[in-house]
Amino acid sequence: MKALVLAGGSGTRLRPITHTSAKQLVPVANKPVLFYGLEAIAAAGVRELGIVVGDTQAEIEAAVGDGSAFGLQVTYLRQDAPLGLAHAVLIARDFLGDDDFVMYLGDNFIVGGINDLVSRFVQAKPDAQIMLTQVGDPRQFGVAELDAAGRVIGLEEKPQRPKSDLALVGVYLFTPAVHEAVAELKPSWRGELEITDAIQWLIDHGRHVESTTITGYWKDTGNVTDMLEVNRLVLEHLDAETHGVCEDSELIGRVTLQPGARVERSRIVGPAIIGPGARVSDSYVGPFTSIGADCVIDGSEIEYSIVLPRASIQGVRRIEASLIGHDVEVTPAPNTPRAHRLVLGDHSKVQISS
Ligand code: TTP
Repeated sequence: MKALVLAGGSGTRLRPITHTSAKQLVPVANKPVLFYGLEAIAAAGVRELGIVVGDTQAEIEAAVGDGSAFGLQVTYLRQDAPLGLAHAVLIARDFLGDDDFVMYLGDNFIVGGINDLVSRFVQAKPDAQIMLTQVGDPRQFGVAELDAAGRVIGLEEKPQRPKSDLALVGVYLFTPAVHEAVAELKPSWRGELEITDAIQWLIDHGRHVESTTITGYWKDTGNVTDMLEVNRLVLEHLDAETHGVCEDSELIGRVTLQPGARVERSRIVGPAIIGPGARVSDSYVGPFTSIGADCVIDGSEIEYSIVLPRASIQGVRRIEASLIGHDVEVTPAPNTPRAHRLVLGDHSKVQISS
């Protein structure tokens, strides 16, 4: 079996971060979200992996390399434009050959791995197998309709009147039968080749599509709220490790200081992680916060946030529920005149108390 990880796309919901970076590399507890998926694939015993990449190819390649760090052999597959999940399968045709494969969306986060899903597929050998989870508002997802035996009889993308509360999770298992389906597809109203249409094609042509409903945690980290929530969950289960230096400070609860991190005259309430080479001084860092490598947090307060490498926050109280990009500088405005001075990238989102 091979694996296909989708790490292209446009990432419009995570702008402005995705103007300059790949959303699959946004860190969760200081590790790119993509890496959790690669680890799950390797743990399921798969070795040959194709990664579909778009404009951010160089950045993804620099992070993942040849895959040997994960026990994987990686082939990069260039998708010239984000024309849909099924289009990614189309361009991966030669790489996939006649093998079965697991397709994994590079920005999805699943607790509990995919071992059970893969072994069920190998035993039952359906033409395709999808993963479902119960959600509160199915209208924002791909939704599956099942018969009494649990077979999938229909799929709908973001339906107005959902036929169930079972949403599609971003991990799919396919036999080569999917290539016949993909070859027949026409672009949807949003101009994409939809994987839900490919699966529907299989159902309509009498193929056997099986589903597994997971009860564990799953999130598509495509927007800031979900990203912060996944960060919270991972930090919640992280064991504290102190490899950095801590002086005249209080570390409360599970606080990880990565190598070269330095905390001075500060209070850190875990769970929290301070990245390699980061410096926190005269500050408060609250629960569920990840401070990236080489950041500077000075005279500030921050909690429930993700700060990407090399950002600097000085003299600012207090920052909450925020995603702060690479090399960002956050400083207080001078008191007079009372005004905000902003240099914000396109699509930035700022909330200011006035
Ligand atoms: P999505 O999150 O569905 O799409 P997107 O990346 O375009 O994001 P947004 O909706 O915010 O604009 O994509 C799921 C995953 O699949 C993600 O890791 C990106 C990847 N992808 C591709 O590799 N190629 C594609 O053509 C598309 C649509 C997505």
